[in-house]
Amino acid sequence: MERKTLKQEKEQDEALVREALLGLSRSYAPYSHFHVSAALLCGDGSIYTGNNIENAAYSATVCAERCAFFKAVSEGKREFAAIAICGGKDGEAEDYCPPCGVCRQVMREFCGPSFRVLLVKGTGERREFTLAELLPESFGPDNLG
Ligand code: THU
Repeated sequence: MERKTLKQEKEQDEALVREALLGLSRSYAPYSHFHVSAALLCGDGSIYTGNNIENAAYSATVCAERCAFFKAVSEGKREFAAIAICGGKDGEAEDYCPPCGVCRQVMREFCGPSFRVLLVKGTGERREFTLAELLPESFGPDNLG
């Protein structure tokens, strides 16, 4: 992963937050009307977006975070620095939208403990966590030996 200055990291975070908020309008959520959007920052500086995609057979729904990861991984990306996530009823990101357990586990597959998760509100307010904080004592690839 490229080494970044603090200024570069701040600028990338701003871009990530912007992309996540922009992506809310692409959510496909005709059943829950709960729109979620994510923007994933790769180790090479590229950004992959994702949004939730619901299905009439509800369990076939995919979350925004996994959509972003699967797009990036399927394009060959394997190093990730951060993800910005926002969401809310009818696309109004009034509150923070934390990632579900399954999405945290998918992050665990590809990311180290210091991977950063930015939760973003429509106002631009944000909270930042590491993956280790969101998924302590986790099971990962190393457990399989
Ligand atoms: N959702 C996500 O996209 N990400 C999460 O981490 C939590 C939930 C979506 C799935 C479903 O389309 C809607 O939010 C309501 O659960």
